[in-house]
Amino acid sequence: MPHLLHLDSSIDPTRSRSRAITAAFADAWRERGEDFTVTARDLHARPVPHLTSAASHWAPRLRQPGDVQPAEESARQQELLDELLAADALLVGAPMYNYSLPSTLKAWIDHIHVPGVTAPFDTPDQPMAGRPAVVVTSRGAVYDPGTATEGWDHTVPPLRLILGASLGMEVTVIATNLTLADTVPALAEQQGRADEELAAAKAEARRLALTLL
Ligand SMILES: Cc1cc2nc3c(=O)[nH]c(=O)nc-3n(C[C@H](O)[C@H](O)[C@H](O)COP(=O)(O)O)c2cc1C
Repeated sequence: MPHLLHLDSSIDPTRSRSRAITAAFADAWRERGEDFTVTARDLHARPVPHLTSAASHWAPRLRQPGDVQPAEESARQQELLDELLAADALLVGAPMYNYSLPSTLKAWIDHIHVPGVTAPFDTPDQPMAGRPAVVVTSRGAVYDPGTATEGWDHTVPPLRLILGASLGMEVTVIATNLTLADTVPALAEQQGRADEELAAAKAEARRLALTLL
């Protein structure tokens, strides 16, 4: 039963490019057959609260004496961990907000990046190792190498670190730029590139969903 965990975090329920691309992926995934199942979690519509206890960052055996994890937080974290661990593949909609991650997506990461449970610490725990993670990032402007904004993207790098280096997943990134070309006059002349990138991103999402695993 190949199972996909599909996360979205865009604030925009109707015009979101990342949601359109992740939807193309999830639709193609389902097309592969009834046993290609999906759990969808909308981190904007149903935000995960911020952690309230440092204990939550660690496996129980690694917590400091006296550290107490609130019961409600423990139950929520376990639900999110179970959802992730049940996934054969992970799909993450990750728009660029202020050059970085939506805070809703960061709150999810804070719950599932747990040394000693999902990430190695004193033992080589890496239960998600080798499973695919597809990150779909959308950004209003452009961050091409050689331009003044090269290196300003702090959305994708932390996802590569956490999902890839730490959890051991096989990360693929699908990016679409210039999504503000249709609303910001200074970007209007680049509308053609924006349209091409969006179409290419949807096609790549579909191709990956039909071939992964
Ligand atoms: C809160 C917020 C912050 C944003 N910050 C940036 C930014 O730093 N750089 C950028 O290029 N675009 C920025 N944008 C534009 C979004 O990246 C762009 O609209 C993108 O398409 C959002 O993803 P979505 O289409 O899936 O909603 C921001 C948008 C919002 C709502």
